[in-house]
Amino acid sequence: MSADAITTLPARSAPLLPADIRARLAMLPRVRLACLPTPLHEAPRLAHHLGGPRIFIKRDDLTGAAFGGNKLRNLEFRMAAAQSLGADTIVVELDQQSNSARQTVAAANKLGMRTILVLQGAMPDDVQGNLLVSFLLGADVRFAADRTEQRQLAEAALRETEAADGTPCLLNDLPMFDEGSAFAYIESTLEILEDLSAEGLEPSCLYMSSSGKGQAGQLLARELLGADFQVRGITATAEFSDIPARTAAIANRAAHRLGLDIEIRPEMVDNDDAFIGPGYGLPSDAGNDAVQLFARTEGIVLDPIYTGKCAAGMIAHIRRGDFGPDDIVVFVHTGGTPAIFTHNALWTPQT
Ligand SMILES: Cc1ncc(COP(=O)(O)O)c(C=O)c1O
Repeated sequence: MSADAITTLPARSAPLLPADIRARLAMLPRVRLACLPTPLHEAPRLAHHLGGPRIFIKRDDLTGAAFGGNKLRNLEFRMAAAQSLGADTIVVELDQQSNSARQTVAAANKLGMRTILVLQGAMPDDVQGNLLVSFLLGADVRFAADRTEQRQLAEAALRETEAADGTPCLLNDLPMFDEGSAFAYIESTLEILEDLSAEGLEPSCLYMSSSGKGQAGQLLARELLGADFQVRGITATAEFSDIPARTAAIANRAAHRLGLDIEIRPEMVDNDDAFIGPGYGLPSDAGNDAVQLFARTEGIVLDPIYTGKCAAGMIAHIRRGDFGPDDIVVFVHTGGTPAIFTHNALWTPQT
């Protein structure tokens, strides 16, 4: 995708309209993969239980293919970039229980491409959750002990595909790998605002599980529109030492590609790392309680690795009195639900 193809707008003296922003997004190469727009559901029983603001849930777990999730949105941009390179085989480096891996294989299947997943970790005795679904989808899965071996195996997969006259694309090395998520979450945010506006409402705060990519898009949407709702990311990983700087950098690269003259600064990024619990990929007590509360009040299934921890953050903030009854809080459900099967002991009744 060439940034040069999109004319840079003059310095903004006034906020943009949603239609202006959508027109910018429409200039990006994209393939349709997700069921969009996703619904926005009010969660009155959850709100009543917590005794704070009105709560709405943006159902990005319902994006369609293979249990859905946030990644199908960004794959619309990533896969278009891979297609423009003539790729017939997607190679991608991710973690053993990656939601992104599952959704990438589903997207590649829909586009008639093969996928080679190079995952950090080992083949487990009990194949469950995302890994199970990736196998079902037909991925060629290879395991690597660490990042160095992961890169070696990915490069070997590229050579092997070329030797068989295929055209591979190493997804992680696409120049817009991260920006794809920012584009996707500009659009998701516009959907939220439009749905609320149809009811005469405006959000006070958006919550989303974030390690920087999607939250970059939410911030861009807010700033471009000149809106003043809060954007609170709750991270599930300690992998990135400075998520505000990372989020701002992704947002600014995405804005540049869209030809938009705007700057997101790290101090504008609200990202809370207090809910990681025992570590990335490991359930936390607060996260598990949140998963159970959403399920038992609203019939909505979160996951204990990302969305449960984000919900734990939102619940803690509501309980400490951050919002009043007139506030509108939107929880963005980014998916990840197959993880409940990986952690089945958490909800298996003890006899
Ligand atoms: C369910 C879920 N939520 C949130 C995230 C974080 O999204 P981002 O990388 O856009 O910050 C991920 C990332 O893998 C995820 O799988």
